[in-house]
Amino acid sequence: MMTTNLTSLLNQYRTEKRCLAGFNINDIYDLHAVALAANELDLPFMAMTYPPVAELNGTYLCRKMVDGFEKIANNKIYLHLDHSTSVDLCKQAIDDGYDSVMIDGSHHDLKTNIQMTREVVDYARSAGVTVEAEIGKIMGRDVVVQSEDDYLASVADVIALCEEAGPNIVAVGIGTAHGFTPTTPKIHFERLQAIANAVPNPLVLHGGTGIADEDIQKAITMGIAKINIGTIVHTTYMREAHTRINKDVQSAYPPFIMKEVIPEVQAVVLDRLKAVNPHL
Ligand code: 13P
Repeated sequence: MMTTNLTSLLNQYRTEKRCLAGFNINDIYDLHAVALAANELDLPFMAMTYPPVAELNGTYLCRKMVDGFEKIANNKIYLHLDHSTSVDLCKQAIDDGYDSVMIDGSHHDLKTNIQMTREVVDYARSAGVTVEAEIGKIMGRDVVVQSEDDYLASVADVIALCEEAGPNIVAVGIGTAHGFTPTTPKIHFERLQAIANAVPNPLVLHGGTGIADEDIQKAITMGIAKINIGTIVHTTYMREAHTRINKDVQSAYPPFIMKEVIPEVQAVVLDRLKAVNPHL
């Protein structure tokens, strides 16, 4: 019997070597596409708002938007705040009913990361909200690294973060990068295994767009219970919308454009869901 409590579900997934897919969504149209794709495989999923989405629309409206999809989705949609570097934004999302928040203190020293994570964990506890922390770094975008030590999560640091701050789930830097990368990222599986041996927490794999299917599947057998997928969703959305709007900008009408864009995004999401769930 599957639980719907997110922390319990992720613990169960880690034990069963399964994985919840989280998709970075930006509005009602890409969320619609993800919900339809998840329905095709009868799966729950996580709708993740990056801080710019949460700040532009407000966490209250994001919550209401996802609530509205209960009539469309066949399974649970978990709403998550992704990569918040702000403790206050995490608190706001918790107050507005998010299922899960990520406090990303990975750019700070370990002590500060632990402090920030602990503050969010303490705040989230009574609301029963899942907290994700990050240790090590996910490369790409503005994260510049000089050596492996700059991004690889150290096992000792993961243990310290888990024991002293108590997050429910942990994103670990093991070589993946956000966005499209010129070459397939080299995942440090031996480090992932060492981390998984050291802590019982479900682990999170970021940078889902650029990771090879077989690497995703291998990581799931080693403790990854949640994967984040973003860039492939929004770039498909923007490209497909752009192509159609460009045909005749004067007569471009959003619902007609989106009616054609949604299936394109849905197909990409379905493809990633199949990579995460090869048994389906
Ligand atoms: P991608 O944009 O590479 O899919 O990564 C998304 C992510 O990890 C969000 O936290």
